[in-house]
Amino acid sequence: MKSDTGALDALLSEDRRFPPPADFSAAAVVRDPEIYRKAAENREVYWAEWAGELDWFEPWHTVLEWSPPHAKWFLGGRLNVSHNCLDRHLSGARRDKTALLWEGEPGDVRRYTYQQLHAEVCRFANALRGLGVEKGDRVTIYLPMIPEAAVAMLACARIGAIHSVVFGGFSPESLADRNNDAKSKVLITADGGWRRGGIVPLKANADEALRDSPTIEHVVVVRRGGELSEKVATGLQDGRDHWYHDLLAGASPESEPESMDSEDILYILYTSGTTGKPKGVVHTTGGYLTQVYATTRAVFDLKEDDVYWCTADVGWVTGHSYIVYGPLANGATVLMYEGAPDTPDRGRFWDICQRYGVTVFYTAPTAIRAFMRWGDQWPGRYDLSGLRLLGTVGEPINPEAWMWYHRAIGGERCPIVDTWWQTETGAIMITPLPGLTDTKPGTAALPFPGIEATILDNNGEETSAGYLAVTSPWPSMLRTVWGDDDRYRATYWSRWPNVYFPGDGAKRDQDGYLWILGRVDDVLNVAGHRIGTMEVESALVDHHAVAESAVVGKSHDIKGQSIAAFVTLKEGFEGTDALEEELREHVGRKIGAIAKPELVIFSADLPKTRSGKIMRRLLRDIAEGRTVGDTTTLADPAVVARLQKMYAEEE
Ligand code: PRX
Repeated sequence: MKSDTGALDALLSEDRRFPPPADFSAAAVVRDPEIYRKAAENREVYWAEWAGELDWFEPWHTVLEWSPPHAKWFLGGRLNVSHNCLDRHLSGARRDKTALLWEGEPGDVRRYTYQQLHAEVCRFANALRGLGVEKGDRVTIYLPMIPEAAVAMLACARIGAIHSVVFGGFSPESLADRNNDAKSKVLITADGGWRRGGIVPLKANADEALRDSPTIEHVVVVRRGGELSEKVATGLQDGRDHWYHDLLAGASPESEPESMDSEDILYILYTSGTTGKPKGVVHTTGGYLTQVYATTRAVFDLKEDDVYWCTADVGWVTGHSYIVYGPLANGATVLMYEGAPDTPDRGRFWDICQRYGVTVFYTAPTAIRAFMRWGDQWPGRYDLSGLRLLGTVGEPINPEAWMWYHRAIGGERCPIVDTWWQTETGAIMITPLPGLTDTKPGTAALPFPGIEATILDNNGEETSAGYLAVTSPWPSMLRTVWGDDDRYRATYWSRWPNVYFPGDGAKRDQDGYLWILGRVDDVLNVAGHRIGTMEVESALVDHHAVAESAVVGKSHDIKGQSIAAFVTLKEGFEGTDALEEELREHVGRKIGAIAKPELVIFSADLPKTRSGKIMRRLLRDIAEGRTVGDTTTLADPAVVARLQKMYAEEE
């Protein structure tokens, strides 16, 4: 285990407890603790009850078929996700309720009622059909945080096309890799988007990616509008590129939703793993929608008049499950914001909360730590009394940040739900229920009712400190890795028989609460984003000056982890500051800015075993400034002292 035991002991001696406020509990969506017992008694009946709250064109005949490691949920059932997120809200008062409330970074605002969002989605669904997109075809979405991102996802879902959303911060090369792996037929992008007062040139990046994306037949370009569109000259290539608004102008606002089998694929989402190649996590329809619907409702305690804001980007799974599918399936009012939290100043998020009366707010620990660093004066300027529930996701939250969130944002009155889950799990798995669970700073508490998770050791024995494990299938679990079922089996199901291995370390306390300690594999969590060390290493050795590299994570006050790269250069190259910057830029170009190493240490050699294996454990110790562990297996033990010295000079 990588975790530092000292820090762990400090965490586990955390004895502050926050029972749900009585008035919150009294009105909570879930307020009967029996839910845990009922779910455990018969999980299939329990999940079927949630599924029954959705609209099905055809009922299922079997709740679960578990043929490890493959699960199918709600077999025989037919439904459509966009129908569940839109059409079924149109018959009553929700028709004119705000579905999407969007603010651009420059301050432009758009609102869509459920009826308007339905019409826009139908128009775009028809337009996609007009471009020849059929059920099962893949469509890549590479958009900024604008309403069209949600519209595009829902339009794909409507016609049964499989979307693959690629985060707008990824480089052209990463985009091309994803287009090619999925063999996407259509790419949906925009001229650009605003970020921290600057423009992210998405169409220019897309054009670069398209030079190496032979399967893409059509490109749809959203004009972001306003000043941005005036600044970005977007050339359209005849026959291939189409303006989104032109396609919509002639399209009908009615479109029959495709009747999808419960196990038809809804989307692919690429995520980093322990090899150089990101994997396409596959999610299907009925089980996925059931669990995102259920968790959004129960964990975020959604009520009809809530204004719900999840600050994630739609390019990540949190955006898929908790900006688009979960909240819209619940008929919620969803706030979406395009830009940075510190533009035009560090009060932007709180200004948004005040102006729109946000009631439920879901963000990441990395953001909370930045807010904490910026100081109380920023939230202090705004009226945040409308907030009633706070959430966090993406990495372990340190108790200090939790307490700050509780006090400075939650006014000591809002429960905090610390939700553990992953791209692969599709939906929240471990979390407090805000009306029932006493929370403690730093723990995601208990498995959601109907989820079976525990802690196992290497031999698959229950233990109180070891690896987190999910011991039975859940509705929104990934079904496979796109095009690579062997990798699916090897990554998630080979540690123990028929038990899912998420790749996280965990501890259980005396109350049975689960404390997630972070990744135990070669996956980093930088500002809540997953980055594989192998991906960064591949990008570095791709540079002509680099012979070898080893990448490790290093604790970072705000980002949780940052990237440290140890690099051995080829003969004739010198480790200058200029080369360091060049390598950083190179990684940015290959993967995206989020993967740029913070620290590059040039070294003539790396600590290796006699069989030539790089000992990352030692590099992690060096990067953390810790006492370096056992070096007796090293081919050249002196290399560690040399590296420590260089590292100290570099920092
Ligand atoms: O290490 C865990 C951490 O984020 C990983 C999943 O990353 P990703 O697939 O990008 O999804 C992030 C958003 C769901 C996990 O393996 N993680 C996520 N939530 C928490 C967490 N670690 C501790 N506490 C959490 N609440």
